[in-house]
Amino acid sequence: MIVSPSLLSADFGNLDRDVEMLNRSEADWYHLDVMDGVFVPNISFGFPVIDAIATKAKKPLDVHLMIVNPDKFVSRVRDTGAAIMNVHQEACIHLNRTIQSIKAAGMKAAVTLNPATPVSTLEDIIGDVDMVLLMSVNPGFGGQKFIENTIAKTRRLRAMIDEAGSKALIEIDGGVNLETGARLAEAGADALVAGSFVFGAEHPESVIASLKAL
Ligand code: DX5
Ligand code: ZN
Repeated sequence: MIVSPSLLSADFGNLDRDVEMLNRSEADWYHLDVMDGVFVPNISFGFPVIDAIATKAKKPLDVHLMIVNPDKFVSRVRDTGAAIMNVHQEACIHLNRTIQSIKAAGMKAAVTLNPATPVSTLEDIIGDVDMVLLMSVNPGFGGQKFIENTIAKTRRLRAMIDEAGSKALIEIDGGVNLETGARLAEAGADALVAGSFVFGAEHPESVIASLKAL
């Protein structure tokens, strides 16, 4: 299992310490949640913070943009050194064009779906994306309850990807812990994002190791 801890739940007064912990841990990626207060009802952090994390991070950055018009920021995200750029399907009118420009900028292109957006909306783009991120909570906040429908949705997405012969990975974000994570692994998830479950734990490194072993 690929594990992508969400820095949204990190201690922003001690970011260095938390980034170092992730460097030492078995985490695969750093999940960075950018919110604009328009696409989601919250504001998190932006490019100066991502740039600072990037100078210390020893693993790929998985940037999740919960913003309107993410296509405007492809080159700025690329300049952070990000490996993966996640854009919401709901925020992209010309999703095909956005995906192509992310790839042309040298990043992996990931499309994120809100809980109410069906996987069928990706049928005509599934061969072009490197990853699909399914939101298992309504985006905007850490620490929310896992939406149970995500398990069946993951199975439907797995079937669609396999049928199309696509190499897209499936990543899940929101309410992930060892219990939901185990069921997501069984349903076909390749990558798990976890914020509060990792950073709220007494021993975050062992929590990451347990998720990794799912
Ligand atoms: C929510 C963010 C998530 C969030 C997950 O909008 O996209 O990445 O940090 O937090 P947990 O794991 O606490 O649900
Ligand atoms: Zn996220």
